[in-house]
Amino acid sequence: MTQSVYPFGLAPAPGRRRRIAVIAGDGIGPEVVAQALRAVEPLGIALDIQHFPWSADHYLKTQETLPKGALTELREHFDAIFFGALGDPRVPDGVVAKDVLLGLRFGLDLYINLRPVQLLDEKLCPLKGKQRRDVNFWVLRENTEGPYVQMGGSFKRDTPDEVAISEDLNTRRGVERIIRAAYTLANVPHDSSHKSPRVCMVDKANALPHAHGLWQRTFRQVAAEHPNVSSSHLFVDVAAMEFVRTPERFDVVVTSNLFGDILTDLGAAICGGLGVAASGNIHPGRCSLFEPVHGSAPDIAGKGLANPLAAYLTLAMLYDHLGEHDAGDRLRRAVEEVVLAGLVTRDLGGQLSTSECGDAVLRALTGATRN
Ligand code: NAD
Ligand code: IPM
Ligand code: MN
Repeated sequence: MTQSVYPFGLAPAPGRRRRIAVIAGDGIGPEVVAQALRAVEPLGIALDIQHFPWSADHYLKTQETLPKGALTELREHFDAIFFGALGDPRVPDGVVAKDVLLGLRFGLDLYINLRPVQLLDEKLCPLKGKQRRDVNFWVLRENTEGPYVQMGGSFKRDTPDEVAISEDLNTRRGVERIIRAAYTLANVPHDSSHKSPRVCMVDKANALPHAHGLWQRTFRQVAAEHPNVSSSHLFVDVAAMEFVRTPERFDVVVTSNLFGDILTDLGAAICGGLGVAASGNIHPGRCSLFEPVHGSAPDIAGKGLANPLAAYLTLAMLYDHLGEHDAGDRLRRAVEEVVLAGLVTRDLGGQLSTSECGDAVLRALTGATRN
């Protein structure tokens, strides 16, 4: 965990400051983003940071979600996006998250949703007898297809005869590129107790023979090109069980958009919860978006209860994307240090507030910087 394994980064840009867009969003989004950004200065890499206001507040004031031109601006003039969370009970149809978060995933073609499932301290693991080395894998979630494309509709709405359809879109190109990304990640040499890297593809082809038959056929073809990798397959129901029963069997898991969404909250749970789960929405070599796995948590927003560690770990992934692996590693080490010292928020069994936990990370970081 403290060592970066990240083959999807930007080309070097010597002599130029990287440009980072920050979308703090709703609920605990701004609270955790504010903490994470405190790490930028001590990490010593000058970044040009620009904040964008897109959120429920902004929408309620202006009716604007993702403005026209935003996609082009972000794609052409920014290196990465640091994102908090979107979702607010005052906007019950979720239009802001749909337009901004899904809009950026689709519009910037961020087809890899990379979500590490990496245990920082065995105290945080709810599974009996599991140690850090047992819970240490990545999930690659397809991020631009599936039911998320929102093709479909409803008919005879609000009548007893209502019909509702959400199509599950799967393309050969989309399936193949996420499976290839899984092998790219598996082929990066990394610290592991076993000799050959392992890729496990998760689908539900027994019930969805058309859509997930495509996943199976594509997986077999790509797997055959990688005889050095141990390739396996699980149906998603069994995969959920195995995340809990034998997480040590996984190195790289590749799956569809919706299954990846669900499995990665389970992945977060076996590491201590959503407060420590980071993610990147990535197009290799292009402007990509980094966000904690958690949402806006309206139940705890504004109370100083939010755990900022997922946001710090997310920022570490953003540094990896910029090619600043040393900064990413230092930040991960600082987070690990505060977790081991128990300097954490209540969701992890500690006593600290959001900002006190941020103080602890900053102290660990500046201590680490002096070493
Ligand atoms: P959630 O992740 O916001 O919260 C689930 C539970 O985990 C809550 O009890 C919350 O208090 C807790 N939790 C989450 N993050 C935490 C943190 N950092 N520290 C401590 N506890 C934390 O999921 P939800 O309640 O299903 O969704 C709330 C809103 O967020 C919805 O509008 C949803 O659509 C949205 N959402 C947005 C994103 C995103 O922007 N990427 C992701 C998930 C959910
Ligand atoms: C996530 C979230 C989103 C998703 C929601 C907010 C649309 O749950 O990033 O995991 O389902 O992708
Ligand atoms: Mn989710």
